[in-house]
Amino acid sequence: MIKLFSQKNLPQLSKIKLADLATKAEGSQEFFNSFPWAKDLMVFYREDQCQQEIYYCPQHLLMALAVQGQRPLFIDLQKQIESFRQQGPHPFTKVFDRQQLVVDLTAGFLADTAKLLAMGFQVRCYERFLPLILLIEQARRLAANPNLSFCPGEWKVAELMDGQLYYDPMYQQYSQKSASKGPMTWLRDQLSESDSPEKIIESLYACKKNFRLLVKSWRQAKALVPERLKHRYQGKSTCYDLYLICQS
Ligand SMILES: C[S@@+](CC[C@H](N)C(=O)[O-])C[C@H]1O[C@@H](n2cnc3c(N)ncnc32)[C@H](O)[C@@H]1O
Repeated sequence: MIKLFSQKNLPQLSKIKLADLATKAEGSQEFFNSFPWAKDLMVFYREDQCQQEIYYCPQHLLMALAVQGQRPLFIDLQKQIESFRQQGPHPFTKVFDRQQLVVDLTAGFLADTAKLLAMGFQVRCYERFLPLILLIEQARRLAANPNLSFCPGEWKVAELMDGQLYYDPMYQQYSQKSASKGPMTWLRDQLSESDSPEKIIESLYACKKNFRLLVKSWRQAKALVPERLKHRYQGKSTCYDLYLICQS
């Protein structure tokens, strides 16, 4: 399991050279060359045997997350939003109303948040995993998107207002073929859900509020709560399940 760090660890961290960094993860030389702050980089977080690291630049407060064998990860929200602007019709636009906020309960690397923003929605997102919280805070600061607000930490049913929810839980791998090979695989290895997604959906039904809930899943997967499912939007590899939670 990943070890988390605190700001207190910072003074004990040692500076390392860019040349050393380049050997740690494939593609990192090119990645770091594209950022002028790279020469001031420090290892902010280090897991045993250099498997996961967060690189941190104290001067510019920029960081990236590196996993062995993968390109260091850095959330560029603006770039993601621009890449999604070209997309065709999406279940988000069929299910959600642009006049109301969409709450993304599982921000992760902000890919789905960026899709929602590209489609003109106002989004509030939650994330509880500290390395991602740091990357998200940084991405927000750099993109300065007025349509995005962020709540670092775990969302609580009691705090949610009636409205539109988007939920993309960490699924166990349904098959090797459908499993993603990138950052999501790494993230899934680090995290385990405290409650099953099924239980979480039931807790939303139990809280006496009104939600339009869209849940992301694998194309081949069964709905999490089939007896309550309102509609399934089928994509090429993913699908989106709609639940209408009404108290009246
Ligand atoms: C599958 S990932 C979401 C990926 C995201 N949709 C994207 O496009 O990058 C699920 C994320 O939700 C976060 N998460 C899960 N349960 C949470 C909770 N109760 N509160 C806050 N964050 C949560 C996990 O830490 C993880 O980063």
